[in-house]
Amino acid sequence: VGILTGGGDAPGLNAVLRAFTRNAVKNHGRSVVGVMDSFNGLLDTPRRLMPLTPLAVRGLLHRGGTVIGTTNRGDPFGWRTPGGKVDRSAELARAVADEGLEGLVVVGGDGTQAIAWRLMAERGIPVIGVPKTIDNDLGATDVTFGFQTAVDIATDALDRLHTTAESHERILVLEVMGRDAGHLALHAGLSGGADVLLLPEIPWEAEYVAAAIAARRHIGRTYTLVVVAEGALPGAPEADAAARKARLRKGGGAGAIVAAQLEGAVDAEVRVCVLGHVQRGGTPTPADRLLATRMGVAAADLVAEGRWGEMVVLRGGSVQSVPLPEAIAVNRGVDPEGELVRTARALGVSFGDKRG
Ligand code: F6P
Repeated sequence: VGILTGGGDAPGLNAVLRAFTRNAVKNHGRSVVGVMDSFNGLLDTPRRLMPLTPLAVRGLLHRGGTVIGTTNRGDPFGWRTPGGKVDRSAELARAVADEGLEGLVVVGGDGTQAIAWRLMAERGIPVIGVPKTIDNDLGATDVTFGFQTAVDIATDALDRLHTTAESHERILVLEVMGRDAGHLALHAGLSGGADVLLLPEIPWEAEYVAAAIAARRHIGRTYTLVVVAEGALPGAPEADAAARKARLRKGGGAGAIVAAQLEGAVDAEVRVCVLGHVQRGGTPTPADRLLATRMGVAAADLVAEGRWGEMVVLRGGSVQSVPLPEAIAVNRGVDPEGELVRTARALGVSFGDKRG
């Protein structure tokens, strides 16, 4: 069986490789190879495959990143070449057969899982999915590994920014990841006691952010912590992702846009901290190691049961599986009327909208 990791990395990927390999080899009589750098390892010449044995995966439980590499630029259906995109999916199917692989276990986010399903539906490559993203926006699973680690890192950053913001009486804007979904901003913001949360799902305006900062000053709070998700832009969100990306690039990122819009509108210095890939690196939390381990074991069980075309999920506290088409159908954003947003509002947290 081949296993690969695709898309942006997330803490816990190595724990999946370890758990999958141990269960597949020890209990299900399989041999396992890691396909290097997502699907690329099967398309490159020579092919790049790493034999994964229980010995080879020793020591991976707590290690961040992925030892078999990843990329978010390796779509076999739209392979980038200097002359444009080409379809290499048939070549991939031949490589899978040629290597004698029973199928591929694909550990990835929504984009990678969508490719995996196409490979099965259109090219007959048996696949099993394992969900991963620090954004936690895959609707089919209650939670993805990597998310909790990213929340911890962002919360720690907020704790640190808190003391310096207070000492200097500044507005500190923390930009966290989350291009399309604000879960990370919301969870870390609430855990770190931020005063303003700006999410892609709740359109915000600088005047309301400035009003929230002024209201704090009025009660003697001379500093403010603002958390902004990297995809949260002021005003109505563009339906078109490319247009949104262009607006973000032009403005220097969501944090820079918030700062530029607050400059002059508030009576304090504004500083921006972009947390970036720090949120994806390093040691997974115990909760993420546990979830990744459970999902890795479950994926090997699915292989043994021949349940190709399914993806492992966590629902209501138990690890289960769902058909891949169902798994990729729903992306989950923050519910603007959901319990967490209501909790934050009850505490007086502003979302930069006219509700305060
Ligand atoms: O999807 C995970 C994620 O970390 C997003 O939150 C972020 O927008 C994106 O990946 C960053 O991607 P890259 O690593 O390509 O910069």
